[in-house]
Amino acid sequence: MPTVKEIFETMEYGPAPESSDFVDAWLEKHGRKFGHFINGRFVEGNSTFEVINPANKAVIASVSEGTSAEIDQAVQAAGAAFEHWRTLSGHQRARYLYAIARQVQKHSRLFAVLETIDNGKPIRETRDIDIPLVARHFYHHAGWAQLASEVFEDYGPLGVCGQIIPWNFPLLMLAWKVAPALAAGNTVVLKPAEFTPLSALLFAEITQQIGLPAGVFNLVTGDGRTGEALVEHPGVAKIAFTGSTEVGRIIRQKTAGSGKKLSLELGGKSPFVVFEDADLDSVVEGVVDAIWFNQGQVCCAGSRLLIQESIAETMYAKLRNRMENLRVGNPLDKAIDIGAIVAPVQLQKIESLVQQGIKEGASCWQPGWAVPTEGLFYPPTLFTNVEPAGTLAQVEIFGPVLVAMTFRTPAEAVELANNTPYGLAASIWTENVNLALDIAPKIKAGVVWVNCTNVFDAASGFGGYRESGFGREGGAEGMYEYLRPNWEQDLPEAEEPGFVPRAEPGINAGLSDEASQSLNDGAKSESAGIDRTPKLYIGGKQARPDSGYSYPVFDPAGKHRGEAGLGNRKDIRNAVEAAAKAGSWAKSAAHLRAQILFYIAENLQVRAREFTDRLVTDCGCSAESAEREVTVAIERTFYYASWTDKYDGRVHQTPFRNVTLAMPEPWGILGIVCPETNPLLGFLSLVLPAVAMGNAVVAVPSARYPFAATDLYQVFDTSDLPAGVINIVTGNQLELAKVLAQHLEIAALWFFGSKSGSEMVERESAGNLKATWVTHGKVRDWFTPEQAQGEEFLRHATQIKNIWVPYGE
Ligand code: NAI
Repeated sequence: MPTVKEIFETMEYGPAPESSDFVDAWLEKHGRKFGHFINGRFVEGNSTFEVINPANKAVIASVSEGTSAEIDQAVQAAGAAFEHWRTLSGHQRARYLYAIARQVQKHSRLFAVLETIDNGKPIRETRDIDIPLVARHFYHHAGWAQLASEVFEDYGPLGVCGQIIPWNFPLLMLAWKVAPALAAGNTVVLKPAEFTPLSALLFAEITQQIGLPAGVFNLVTGDGRTGEALVEHPGVAKIAFTGSTEVGRIIRQKTAGSGKKLSLELGGKSPFVVFEDADLDSVVEGVVDAIWFNQGQVCCAGSRLLIQESIAETMYAKLRNRMENLRVGNPLDKAIDIGAIVAPVQLQKIESLVQQGIKEGASCWQPGWAVPTEGLFYPPTLFTNVEPAGTLAQVEIFGPVLVAMTFRTPAEAVELANNTPYGLAASIWTENVNLALDIAPKIKAGVVWVNCTNVFDAASGFGGYRESGFGREGGAEGMYEYLRPNWEQDLPEAEEPGFVPRAEPGINAGLSDEASQSLNDGAKSESAGIDRTPKLYIGGKQARPDSGYSYPVFDPAGKHRGEAGLGNRKDIRNAVEAAAKAGSWAKSAAHLRAQILFYIAENLQVRAREFTDRLVTDCGCSAESAEREVTVAIERTFYYASWTDKYDGRVHQTPFRNVTLAMPEPWGILGIVCPETNPLLGFLSLVLPAVAMGNAVVAVPSARYPFAATDLYQVFDTSDLPAGVINIVTGNQLELAKVLAQHLEIAALWFFGSKSGSEMVERESAGNLKATWVTHGKVRDWFTPEQAQGEEFLRHATQIKNIWVPYGE
């Protein structure tokens, strides 16, 4: 028996294990064997696999390996249930969600212990973080169900949602997916991760207890093959996935062209940036939360520690001291900081990446004590002397391994922070709020925590930039992922294939630049009677197409109207380069952008007659309808000029002492392939909201009727639009769309064209996982405001960054 003095000196804790008795009782009740949960009841699967407790490698239970046939049954059940569920009032759905929240709270201890046994994460975390957040998510979304018809007026559910979740936060990821889907009126087929299906099975039981109508929530267990069957099922209207970037990319390709809505929450390599004026003791605790929370198996783990050089050694010393005092062991022990790694394969992955880092010359430090050997444990690890381009700094380790690098200036910190293909989260530590709020918008990440880390709430959207995926979970943004405009389904479909331009050599061939310019200028007016061949518009200048080819443009009666430049891959590259140079547009004041848009409208008005004539001669429409298109185009320009300084962010009501700022940020460079019809109005209806929100655009106008867009060059030139903000490449829309989709510097791509083109765009965009907005051949009416303008466009032109700033002493 140690003396009190000895206890105070060593600060040794006695074991404080949470009892697993009633988890055992629950498992025994099911004979430690589980089937799938389909249409409101458990059904036995064909083959089974074992689930282990990673803390002691003991087998906990066996669960079923879902087949395609079982996925089909579940999708059918969900499809049938959808017909009823969608007709319930928001209030009725809210009651079910509320009942789930209450039931989760009532069974919180059972859930927490079960999750710990299944996943290996400390009971402190499941008890205090995972399960309370699950309940919070269902409460919050009970609210969205209640309010949906008012807040999301004219929007409706999608249908059956296929949801595939990972093993790191099994029940929390379930809640993040199931709650918004049900609140919006969808039904669900969920596939939990193969390592951690048990809390989802318990959740299924809860849905039975609260009387959720059969088929609204279905659960099929299994591994990646089961997930694949769900992704491929034609009865699924949406796939929501959280997991590795690799699988996310496969799912992007597999769902291409299917019309399935997709949200991807993928990997990360999030920076944890510490400035020299930060409160270093708080920083140390922050690091513990950032990288040792859940054994570092967190998509938004602060795995890259970026420290200002002046304090690096002090920080390392403090960190090593803290690491020496962390406790790794039985996750059911309430005094444990770090639990077990989820599975042998994950432990091996961590070990091999650590060895790789050592081989590459980084310095590895681990505490002096050894981890228990009976389970899957790995010690907290700190790497210093890490090369920013090395494996450790670039690859997601998904384990308790922290990789430290230093910087000198804030600009260098931002550069290092963004030196990753990912963009999920970032944490900034400084006592200088001005500095923090200057850095936060500069880091490409969906969530930025100031002087805090790994804080989550249902009211605040969560999701990534770049290869961390697209779409948000939580908040209003999260609800939109499960809704679509009611009128969308009834849109007519365009004929396939679209217009294919035929190449002809020479574009003003043989003429000097001045001569060709004057020819173009003269040809602006039909009365000049001179054939015209407008060039491309890149970086604020007219540019010859790289190919030197043009293509003939005819009116609907087959009369030759002129030649348009046939842009190619090189022209798109040049346009993207020009757009990249226009980066300051995003940072310019919204007031300035608004003024320029108003000015565009004014200059359009001056030339209204000319544009009307152009539409009449090129498109063969009546003078009346051409006039209407021009009038609406001018009004729409006013409309987006008006929105420019009014599409604000929000301050979310998160239940902590902080403000959570939701800021809509532009994507950066946005590719837009415009509709074939209404060549002026369709073009402006897409390009203007993108530009209003601060994006630089590479636009491909209607190939059949390109001149309404090329006539805009002079309007833009005379409206003070900075060079490179709008770039226009005429030519074969499909070919150019493919180049845009494959271009790694384009963050988002809109394709308002054919069905097959939409499929191609979604598939080819998988490279950098760019966010796409495609119409699958459906044709909008550009005169109908509900289809042609509004927040939908502004939402697609931006992505939300949530910045958490705590307050108080
Ligand atoms: P994973 O991406 O393979 O698995 C996630 C989920 O997708 C699981 O339910 C799995 O069964 C399912 N799945 C796998 N292949 C599929 C396919 N082709 N089609 C449909 N569903 C499929 O992740 P895994 O193998 O569990 O972990 C590998 C690495 O991924 C980790 O080391 C970590 O780096 C990263 N990861 C990232 C997560 C995140 O939250 N960002 C979560 C889990 C893993």
